[in-house]
Amino acid sequence: MITDPRLVELLSYYRDAELRGAQLLFRLLKMTQHDVDIQVKLTRHVTDETRHAWLWTKRIVEMGGVPTRIAAGYQARIGMRIRPRTVVDLFALTLVVEERSLARYREHALRANVDELTRAVLLAVSRDEQSHISWMSNTLAQLLEQNPDSREHAEPMIQRYRQVDADVYAALATYEREAFRDDDRATLAEITPRVL
Ligand SMILES: [Fe+2]
Ligand SMILES: [Fe+2]
Repeated sequence: MITDPRLVELLSYYRDAELRGAQLLFRLLKMTQHDVDIQVKLTRHVTDETRHAWLWTKRIVEMGGVPTRIAAGYQARIGMRIRPRTVVDLFALTLVVEERSLARYREHALRANVDELTRAVLLAVSRDEQSHISWMSNTLAQLLEQNPDSREHAEPMIQRYRQVDADVYAALATYEREAFRDDDRATLAEITPRVL
């Protein structure tokens, strides 16, 4: 079965964001070796993100596609504007990115023209993203409590990260809207014969 190449590209964006998200976590793993609690949670977390990348890859292959190489996806664009250096920076950035992916997946799952298998992946990964946000925001709050100096600079930094995230996401959303412009009400099955 050959499916809509635009959907393959969209899921390839998701796959790329999951893999790059895992890279941020690998950096954090390296920087937090002294903290066993964080090591346990991060190891679980990185397993989730790589599994998410696999779920998207599997879904693409099931649809008859192959993952598209994404040169300038969400995380790459974020990386051009934000260079996290400390553990607090990395926690804050990961949190902002996690919140975006959760909102993104939820919004996609609610669309009328989503096939059931894709929706199942969207819901499964959303559950995990919710738990990632929860442990990371709790741990970030603890880190800031332990280090009041970093608290002062954390608030404006998170605001800046959110602004960069909003800019990057707006640009990608415009591209996506443009790509899918003619098919607002089409189901995947309706699109498929036309693009073959
Ligand atoms: Fe994920
Ligand atoms: Fe996540």
